[in-house]
Amino acid sequence: MKGQRYVLANFKMNKNTGEIKKWADQILQLLYKRHEKIRVRIGVAPSFPHILTAKSLFYGTDIMVGAQNMYYEEKGAFTGEVSVSQLKDIGVDFVIIGHSERRKIFKEDNELIEKKLISAIRYGIIPVLCIGETLEEREKGLTEKVIDEQLKAVEKIPDEMTEIDLVIAYEPVWAIGTGIPAKPDHIAEVINKIKNKLKNKFPKISVLYGGSIDENVAKEIRHVCDGGLVGSSSLDAQKFFKIAENFQT
Ligand code: PGA
Repeated sequence: MKGQRYVLANFKMNKNTGEIKKWADQILQLLYKRHEKIRVRIGVAPSFPHILTAKSLFYGTDIMVGAQNMYYEEKGAFTGEVSVSQLKDIGVDFVIIGHSERRKIFKEDNELIEKKLISAIRYGIIPVLCIGETLEEREKGLTEKVIDEQLKAVEKIPDEMTEIDLVIAYEPVWAIGTGIPAKPDHIAEVINKIKNKLKNKFPKISVLYGGSIDENVAKEIRHVCDGGLVGSSSLDAQKFFKIAENFQT
């Protein structure tokens, strides 16, 4: 058994309805123009108000639609939150959990992220768990320690849940939105460590890279990871599609 290859667009807090429709049209046209099926799973995570629009635009296709966050409780007095069961209800395929922007700006800690991770799995939504070190941590030689700490959430997944499609996105914080991606050697080293640590327990694990991916980066690193989580370059449909093509092996 092996994990799938994924190329996922993280729109962050960008795009309105019209822009999403245009993006979807362009992606669908590019897909239909290809002679063969693309050999990666493509997904897009728009903001919450646009998830249903994206679901209907990609209805009947293989394109997955995800959310950028969720709350782990099913329902209740949690003003402003969106629950895991609400995401399930509208057919969300995957959910990004623990993105560094959520960790940093919204103060999400490993304990909360672990609850979200387990809750997404219980509801059958593919979790895309983001992990990665900051520049300061990297300079202090703490990369492995930080990643081990962030992966504790995964180790706590109960044994009866290990047959799931589990996606980890290794996103060094210093590479996100900076235009400076990590070097292929560094990515390979960290991703191998993550895989060696988890592959026995999770036979269907996929480990993606994220951080300033463009089409060249995708080509360079396609053999060292199982795909990518793409931020700014995903906003342009043509660029994103090229990245997805370049991630094929
Ligand atoms: P970036 O973002 O591609 O703009 O660096 C990646 C991410 O935050 O997931």
